[in-house]
Amino acid sequence: MSLPESNVQQPPYEPKIIGFLCNWCSYAGADLAGTSRLSYPPNIRIVRVQCSGRVSPELVLKAFHEGADGVIVLGCHIGDCHYIDGNHRTSKRIPMLRQLLAYAGIEPDRLRLEWVSAAEGERFATIVKEFTETVRALGPIKQVMVTG
Ligand code: FES
Repeated sequence: MSLPESNVQQPPYEPKIIGFLCNWCSYAGADLAGTSRLSYPPNIRIVRVQCSGRVSPELVLKAFHEGADGVIVLGCHIGDCHYIDGNHRTSKRIPMLRQLLAYAGIEPDRLRLEWVSAAEGERFATIVKEFTETVRALGPIKQVMVTG
């Protein structure tokens, strides 16, 4: 016997978030959050990259295409990039990508850029909490059609 559809309990919505973290600062900051036993939502799936400048538009769009409800890029503070100007490129690329998302009818707040140093475990946890709540309020993303 099956229950009528109105009686079926839906699990609460949990946003899927992809976080691209640069190896030298932000990944170390996330690690510090972990070793300091700071809590942050388990919604984030971390992808370690050598530099935030390596996070191409294709990578961000692929994350959305494959089901991410939100994407966050975390890198070293300006002036601290281990590849000198990688994060300068990121600081130009992400606002441009946010505009592209808006043009495609996707809320630009689903994409966020922040700087987190290796010493900022607490800042990492706070940003992840805030971003998770932002994406939760936006709800599930509609399917993004990306070819290639
Ligand atoms: Fe961290 Fe470039 S190495 S942003």
